Parts: sequence; structure tokens; C-alpha cells
Amino acid sequence: DQDPRIYAIQSRIRVVPNFPKPGIMFQDITTLLLDPKAFKDAIDLFVERYKDKSISVVAGIEARGFIFGPPIALAIGAKFVPLRKPNKLPGKVFKQEYDLEYGSDCLEMHIEAVEAGERALVVDDLIATGGTVSAAMNLLERAGAEVVECACVIEIPELKGKEKLNGKPLYVLVEYR
Ligand code: PRP
Repeated sequence: DQDPRIYAIQSRIRVVPNFPKPGIMFQDITTLLLDPKAFKDAIDLFVERYKDKSISVVAGIEARGFIFGPPIALAIGAKFVPLRKPNKLPGKVFKQEYDLEYGSDCLEMHIEAVEAGERALVVDDLIATGGTVSAAMNLLERAGAEVVECACVIEIPELKGKEKLNGKPLYVLVEYR
């Protein structure tokens, strides 16, 4: 059965129709951040799940994975590694392209940030088609890390993003149907 904290979290996520384009139901987590209790509950749920899993790397995806990833990393005693949009990181990077509905995008990770054999958690606010989280997993695996799980606040099950994760487990707090 569902943790009672989930209802409050879900109720604080604002759904904005037709943003940024017609037909998109935008999942706005900024309203969750305005409620310190619900925001903390979201972080706590992740921390409770991951604290005893020997995770040494939390990799957060730009931009909203930078909001949820660092508090999780600090609480479980892992390092935080930002996965950034192209040409933002100054060091040597692994680069991974992924498909969008129209065109493609790219994520980069500092090569020296992760060592072979590390256990990693991928964090983002939302999984839609799964292209972004899948690219993040690829970056960590190219560095020789083991991706333990991918954690998102929201999933849109209709878009079947889970199928892009090659069987890696996905953990989400809220499913938007
Ligand atoms: C959103 C969201 C995820 C991604 C999920 O980011 O924060 O990172 O889309 O989509 P997917 O599962 O279909 O790949 P967005 O592309 O809006 O970038 P931003 O966070 O930099 O605004």
C-alpha cells in the first residue's frame, strides 16, 4: 500500500496544460518546492530507500535533477555528479546523445568524476519517454559504474519510458495517468 506522504507530494505537483507546447501536460515541481514538508517528504522517501544500498554516486540530470539529487546525496553520504547539457562542463567529458520527440539532445559527464566499480543512482524530476534517463545510465556505465536504480519524482506511464531502461529498475513517487 502507498505511503501516506505520497498523497501530499502528488497534490503539490501542478499540472499545466499546453505548456510549453499545445498538447503537453506540464508537470510543475516548483509548487512542490514551496511546501517544505512535502519537499522534505519526497527527499526522505528516496533517502529511506537508498541509505543502506552502498551507493557512492548520485548523478542528477540538468536541470531539475539538480534540485532533488544533492539533498539525497548528502543524506546517504554519496558524492553528487551533475549530468549537464552540452558544453557546460570544463573538464574531459563523456557525451551521450538521445532522441527527443523532434530532433535530439545531449548530456555530458566529467570523466574523472566517477570511478569504475562505483554504485550509482540516477535522479531526475520526471521520466517521460525515458530518453534522458537512458542517456544518463549510459554515461555512468561508460565510466564503469553500476547503475543501481533510476529515481524520479514523476512517471508518465503512458509514454513507456521504463522500456528504454534495459531492465534497470525505476522507482517513482507519483505516476501521472
Ligand atoms: C524534462 C525532465 C526530464 C526530461 C524527461 O527535462 O526534467 O529531464 O524532460 O523526458 P524524457 O523522459 O522524454 O527524456 P527538459 O527536457 O524539459 O529539460 P530541462 O530540465 O533542462 O528544462
